[in-house]
Amino acid sequence: MIILGIETTCDETSVGIVKDGVEVLSNVVSSSAELHTKYGGIVPEVAAREQVKLMVPVVDQALSESNLTFDSIDAISVAYGPGLIGSLLIGVEAAKALSVVWDKPLIAVNHLVGHLYANWITAGNKSPKFPLVALIVSGGHTDLILMENVGKFKLLGSTLDDAAGEVFDKVARVLGLGYPGGPEIERVSGENKNDKVTTNFPRPMMSRDNFNFSFSGLKTSVANFVKERKLAEEDVASIASDFQKSIVDVLVRKTEMAVSKYGAKSIAVGGGVAANSLLRERIKGVGDRNSVEIFFPTKGLSVDNGAMIATAAYFEKKVVDPLKLQANPSLHF
Ligand code: KG4
Ligand code: ZN
Repeated sequence: MIILGIETTCDETSVGIVKDGVEVLSNVVSSSAELHTKYGGIVPEVAAREQVKLMVPVVDQALSESNLTFDSIDAISVAYGPGLIGSLLIGVEAAKALSVVWDKPLIAVNHLVGHLYANWITAGNKSPKFPLVALIVSGGHTDLILMENVGKFKLLGSTLDDAAGEVFDKVARVLGLGYPGGPEIERVSGENKNDKVTTNFPRPMMSRDNFNFSFSGLKTSVANFVKERKLAEEDVASIASDFQKSIVDVLVRKTEMAVSKYGAKSIAVGGGVAANSLLRERIKGVGDRNSVEIFFPTKGLSVDNGAMIATAAYFEKKVVDPLKLQANPSLHF
């Protein structure tokens, strides 16, 4: 079965074409991130205007890169939330139109569930085993989920304030780095050779006996630390590296708590922050200590993309009426 997946929840316009849930035939991702760099964050109106221009060319490119025409597509799928309303509308309305005009079934996908299923692509024929603990860490979400089977999700905890990716972005801005902040923080952390700065950033809620997160205090700590000092260039690398360790410590600890409480057989990580190398290395440590299999999407499949939506559609099969589907910016688990 060949499914075309549309993803426009944030600043990306992406279309992926996936065969039988795991074989990516094409995955075109066009991002407007550069247009937002000067603002240090996404400007929703700018993102949506770009998506109007890009939607049809990106569908065409995905078809041509997979050497297919529309008649080989068996179903259309789309991320209908959560996300920015202007951006979501572009993808959802495009998917509805394609479904009606091409006469193909339409499958609605929760964007967060899409991030999770990106791991099924990387896993190939070796599907993750249940119960599975999933950590979804993106620009808008930080969620720990227990997945007991395909389509069976239980939300264990979420961030009470800022999402992990959002904090990476905000701290990067405080440190005078570019947008998106996660890759920038990771890059300068790797250049850190300065152990002279002592930061003592907090690990918020790390020892609490629940699965919630709170990162706004950590963000404020970094901002105050920077405000109180005149920083040399090498201090930026040191602060970025300490901040990265703090946030990763919390994410990893809560994931390990969930693994042991629910006797998980696998861990899957998803969302843009899953691209972070320190997080990958430390989650691998959790897997080794607990004899649990771990799954990460490739870096390209960690960020928003259409292939993960097509894969989630294949496994979840939530066929909807194309005339009735509505974008839902606050959709959750
Ligand atoms: O999932 P995603 O592409 O979009 C949303 O659904 O939000 O995630 C984007 C987020 C941004 O906040 C970005 O800074 C973060 O993912 N990110 C990273 C890395 N690459 C992207 N955070 C930490 N380390 C990275 N290497
Ligand atoms: Zn996302």
